[in-house]
Amino acid sequence: MNMPNNFLDPGVREPADPGTGDPFGTDLISRLANEFFASQPIRMPALPAIPATPPATLAGVPVHVPVTPATPSRAATGSSSQIDLSGGFPSTHSADAPPPVHPKGVGAEFEQSGAAPSQGGHIPGSSDSHEFGEPYFCSKSFAPASPHPEVGNSLDIPGSGPSGNESRFYFLKGIESVGGLDLPGSLEFPVANIVAPSGTFDVEGVRKDFPALHQHVNGKPLIWLDNAATTHKPQSVIDATSAFYGRDNSNIHRAAHTLSDRSTHLFESGREKVRQFLGAADAKEIIFVRGTTEAINLVAQSYGKPNIGPDDEIILSTLEHHANIVPWQILAGQTGAKIRVIPANDRGELLLEELPKLFNARTKMLAITQVSNALGTINPVEEIIVIAHGFGVPVLVDGAQSTPHIPVNVQAMDADFFTFSGHKVFGPTGIGALYGKSHLLEAMPPWQGGGHMIRDVTFGKTVYQNSPEKFEAGTPDIAGVVGLAAAIDYLFGIGLPAIAAYEHRLLEYAAAAMASLPGLRPIGTARHKASVLGFIISGIDNDRIAKHLDQNGIAVRAGHHCALPTLRHFGLESTVRPSLAFYNTYAEVDAMVQALRQIARR
Ligand code: ALA
Repeated sequence: MNMPNNFLDPGVREPADPGTGDPFGTDLISRLANEFFASQPIRMPALPAIPATPPATLAGVPVHVPVTPATPSRAATGSSSQIDLSGGFPSTHSADAPPPVHPKGVGAEFEQSGAAPSQGGHIPGSSDSHEFGEPYFCSKSFAPASPHPEVGNSLDIPGSGPSGNESRFYFLKGIESVGGLDLPGSLEFPVANIVAPSGTFDVEGVRKDFPALHQHVNGKPLIWLDNAATTHKPQSVIDATSAFYGRDNSNIHRAAHTLSDRSTHLFESGREKVRQFLGAADAKEIIFVRGTTEAINLVAQSYGKPNIGPDDEIILSTLEHHANIVPWQILAGQTGAKIRVIPANDRGELLLEELPKLFNARTKMLAITQVSNALGTINPVEEIIVIAHGFGVPVLVDGAQSTPHIPVNVQAMDADFFTFSGHKVFGPTGIGALYGKSHLLEAMPPWQGGGHMIRDVTFGKTVYQNSPEKFEAGTPDIAGVVGLAAAIDYLFGIGLPAIAAYEHRLLEYAAAAMASLPGLRPIGTARHKASVLGFIISGIDNDRIAKHLDQNGIAVRAGHHCALPTLRHFGLESTVRPSLAFYNTYAEVDAMVQALRQIARR
């Protein structure tokens, strides 16, 4: 990367901005930013015009597409009210009479031999805030990059679009309008144009914030439909992470110096941001981990070991990711506990009526995904939690696949534990969070030992910190937390209700379009779904389909999706799995359907 040295080096100074007297003027920042982006090997693709509402045909086939009115975003309404999901996410291709239900594994019980069940402003305290001019990464520009009309083209890659004034980057707007430095944890972002008053979603505007979307793969514009595996990052997340290393980098909590203050403040602001994101009561209930997998392992070991003994039972569901199966199996192997499984029907919906039958006096934990990564089913976790709590059983909710798509509030759902991963919510890899109710966390022993999690250490004994530090041994991923906070700010700016509404329309559109393809069998047709459009095409190998799509620039995952029991419920070892995010478009869905039609015809 040919980043100009003086972008980061305070020793190499440019003349002050003649207009503003700013020692690190906006023109300079604009020029440096352009130089930086010019050095990047990405091209703005000539994507086809993207309709704001569904077209009347799908790759040439007329369709009827039910359109759900978009719920106004927080930005549009000034309110943070949640989307009403009670109407469900009917999948168009499953609108006919429900297929026959074949409960499998009802009340199934597994001896724990290790085998998987087969079925199934100013930086406070900083006096050098202006050393580098106004650092964009700590300004309002941290905003969800509101690229939109007032800030012009946030991805003005030279040679690909207009230049001149429009070549200025979105973050400069923030610098111009903000007097001092703010830290990301304390910002409110005015994002006004993502959801237009008509209820349309400015997907074109959103896309400008995501540099990775603007490249060609195999000669075609990239169409990223592998969002269940990971999501791309808005420029604000990339900037925040890079800026952390470029300026604030320090370990946290350990030194009296200014950079450590800054890092600590950024880190704890990130914790507060996650608290807001999850609707938790207290930031102390948020523990930073590497991701959902680590969070579940933490709970299985730290909560599970003291509380789950021989012949005790743990309830999981047919729809779990391996990350919500294997840690419990490891625990069961250690303690002699057993795993029981909530069965599902052939749509991929859990059979809730079977759930109460799985509880008994030995049931000690229920762990369930909110959205299935392989099928997209939205599980009614609120209802499940009510049932489990009725039996006095705590519930862990795996939110890895729900947090990118629907609003979450851990207090409203009354989850005892809740987990998610940063990279699925447009943040960095290697960072995620565990929420746990205070009284549970305080009673749990540490999971790992090391620095940072102690109050006192002698060779005789160690006194631990309280939560969350007790569970955060060693130097955490500070830059990851900074990036995650920027990602959450980005989502707040758009509003999860607006995202859910747009994705819902897109999912219905895609499901209807795919249903028109000869030989295609959708896998996972739950009435309440998010993002995922798994399928097989009879007679064609799934890897071949995924490779064909890749040749067309379309990225999907093919395989078992780390959810073998889920796929085996359908008699399968693998599917092809397109998965949507809010930056995907109707035109992209059309392109995928067209490519699938080619291969299906063959
Ligand atoms: N859990 C991720 C997926 O579903 C990796 O693809």
